[in-house]
Amino acid sequence: MADSRQHYGLTRGLTNYGDRGFALYLRRSFAKSMGYSDAMLARPTIGIANTSSGFNNCHRHFPELLQAASRGVLAAGGLPVEFPTISLGEVFLNPTSLKFRNLMSMDTEEMIRAQPIDAVILMGGCDKTVPAQLMGAASAGIPAIQLVAGPMLTGRHEGERLGACTDCRRFWARYRAGAVDERQIAAVEGRLAVTAGTCAVMGTASTMACLTETLGMLLPGTAAIPAVHSDRLRAAEATGAAAVDLIARNLTPDKIITPEAVENALRVLLAVGGSTNAIIHLTAIAGRLGITVSLHDLNRLSDSTPVLVDLKPVGSGYMEDFFAAGGMSAVLQELRPLLNLECLSVVGETLGERLDAERNSRIDREIISSLDAPRQKEGGLVALFGNLAPRGAIMKRAAADRRLFEREARAVVFSSLEDLDARIDDPELDVTPEDALVLQNAGPSSPSGMPEAGYLPIPVRLAKSGVKDMIRISDARMSGTAFGTIILHVSPEAAKGGPLALVRTGDRIRLSVASRRLDLMVEESELRRRAGALEVTRPAAAARGYSKLYLDSVLQADEGCDFNFLRG
Ligand code: FES
Repeated sequence: MADSRQHYGLTRGLTNYGDRGFALYLRRSFAKSMGYSDAMLARPTIGIANTSSGFNNCHRHFPELLQAASRGVLAAGGLPVEFPTISLGEVFLNPTSLKFRNLMSMDTEEMIRAQPIDAVILMGGCDKTVPAQLMGAASAGIPAIQLVAGPMLTGRHEGERLGACTDCRRFWARYRAGAVDERQIAAVEGRLAVTAGTCAVMGTASTMACLTETLGMLLPGTAAIPAVHSDRLRAAEATGAAAVDLIARNLTPDKIITPEAVENALRVLLAVGGSTNAIIHLTAIAGRLGITVSLHDLNRLSDSTPVLVDLKPVGSGYMEDFFAAGGMSAVLQELRPLLNLECLSVVGETLGERLDAERNSRIDREIISSLDAPRQKEGGLVALFGNLAPRGAIMKRAAADRRLFEREARAVVFSSLEDLDARIDDPELDVTPEDALVLQNAGPSSPSGMPEAGYLPIPVRLAKSGVKDMIRISDARMSGTAFGTIILHVSPEAAKGGPLALVRTGDRIRLSVASRRLDLMVEESELRRRAGALEVTRPAAAARGYSKLYLDSVLQADEGCDFNFLRG
């Protein structure tokens, strides 16, 4: 039973009055004001970081999930104590949620550390919330377990299945091209996101859920359970019980998130055709524990990790299909020969032990292919290097047009998001489908804080003539639900004077996915001249508060965009 285990409960981290006895007496007295009995107050405390918010549609079922998790804690002999932290609802934040991920991680870390918590359940789901919570918990260093929201179910429109947000982008692109009218686009708006939960495709939220399960921080088999499925509630209850067990094992995140577990997570990222954002988040989480994720390692793993799943935005299925097809258990089973099987999970078993126990589970090959007959032979992501991206750039090759992989193209440059907005649909814009659209000043240190703007719209004149994809290059990010020949996270970024800032309209850019190269075909002397004339200005909003802290401290994309003072 829990009371025979090493725990501290309310005695942990007393408020400092210079009198420990009084501090505990006062704490117990105030805790009793909430109606707790002595028996309850003697239990280990399981903090539950709750990210329910009116500005987070993806977490709208958290009250019910919280009840189930608390039930599991109580049944296992712990005292569940919910506490709020910042919540990041992806589409409700300006300029972009990534800017606040580190703030949420600091909130999570400090509240875990400051409050009398023996183990913590992290309730998250929407894109940045899970990475923020894992970063915070890794730094706080007490036993922790993630509980994710689970994905939404799909909606229907005129017989067609719809899921946020790949179909949001698909319909918007068709609307821009004149193929969908006002009435249709208005009807679709109410049918894209129809239940609680995270986006219905293998976007950033679902990718992070899968990586978290692979890392071992999520209960086995629970990443893909839909948000509104009763299994999700049972997973929450089991998470509550597992949190109590973590105390006896003293299973802190550093024992679970090891270099080998991070490598497994990279393999899974590549095999599920996961979000480009996930490489930033995984780098940041690992960085909290002193583990380096290198883009060269990503390329090495990408060469030997095939794409196994057929899910949007890379393929055709949705997360509900993935769950029914066998989910993460099936993917890990297929990848078994490539994985480090000695890695531990929050339930105290190794990955190898887990896979032995699940060996005979049924897999739907329509959605999850075997390792012998994969969807694609190479991994979904590839890193590019060259004089335009000395520290690397990312491309989701699984969601790109292969005909554009080996190209030399003329650059059409937009100097900022405002410039892009002002000119992209100008009928006079000098642009052809063979050009490369280049967006500058949308990286982590830019005023926009690295938004998901790397999915540059096809100029409306070209879209109306049927152009569906072009080479697009930026230091921005892209939604995990988007697709196209899009090169992102160019590092160092333009706002820090990186080579991307030196590109001018009319320059030639050479892309070679086969050689992993991205080069600006301009004489070195001319680049030096342009660099000498470059003015790097600090945005006015950085004079105070969190924006100042952010701009003073944010690292580049290849370092996970964490703050320099938070890394392990
Ligand atoms: Fe929350 Fe997509 S908006 S996961």
